[in-house]
Amino acid sequence: MILIRPMTSADVETCARIMAENPLWQRYGVTMNSARQRLGEAVAGGESLFVATMADTVEGFVWCVPRGAFARSGYIPLIGVSPAFTGHGIGARLLDAAEAFLAQSSPDIFLTVSDFNEGAQRFYRRQGYKQVGALPDYVLPGVTELIFWKRLPSMP
Ligand SMILES: CC(C)(COP(=O)(O)OP(=O)(O)OC[C@H]1O[C@@H](n2cnc3c(N)ncnc32)[C@H](O)[C@@H]1OP(=O)(O)O)[C@@H](O)C(=O)NCCC(=O)NCCS
Repeated sequence: MILIRPMTSADVETCARIMAENPLWQRYGVTMNSARQRLGEAVAGGESLFVATMADTVEGFVWCVPRGAFARSGYIPLIGVSPAFTGHGIGARLLDAAEAFLAQSSPDIFLTVSDFNEGAQRFYRRQGYKQVGALPDYVLPGVTELIFWKRLPSMP
């Protein structure tokens, strides 16, 4: 069973490993140290991160920033699932949780995805996101960051 709960400092090491061992983030220069520092600071600073567990083991995480885009819309800077557990619905559950959380402060959500990361683009499109822009060479030379956007269903 997949459960979602807030990330604590005790989860940082596992989530940093999920990032550091993934070829996607390796291409962006992420190491165990840099991931540990970034996630550790975020948790210590009271940012909103959630983990997904299966059998009490953390297998994925998502970072949510209320009004993090244009000081208006929700923003999701990072989402990741353990390579051994991709394709099992963990990412979808994390995204659902992120949307429920961000819906408390905004009617919509932005995120970016690398042009070469076609699996993640498929994942986001299936969850209702659509491409609304593109940022060539924004983070890495030669890589375009695609801007994805989803208007959340209006709250009752
Ligand atoms: C993208 C990601 C978060 C999706 O999580 P997930 O738990 O695999 O997603 P789900 O099981 O809910 O949905 C599976 C869908 O995700 C997509 N996907 C992306 N990368 C995948 C992978 N390595 N393996 C399987 N599915 C993947 C596919 O569209 C797949 O649908 P399909 O079976 O029709 O091809 C996860 O695969 C991941 O961490 N990838 C590496 C990091 C990354 O790309 N993060 C997003 C950066 S913007």
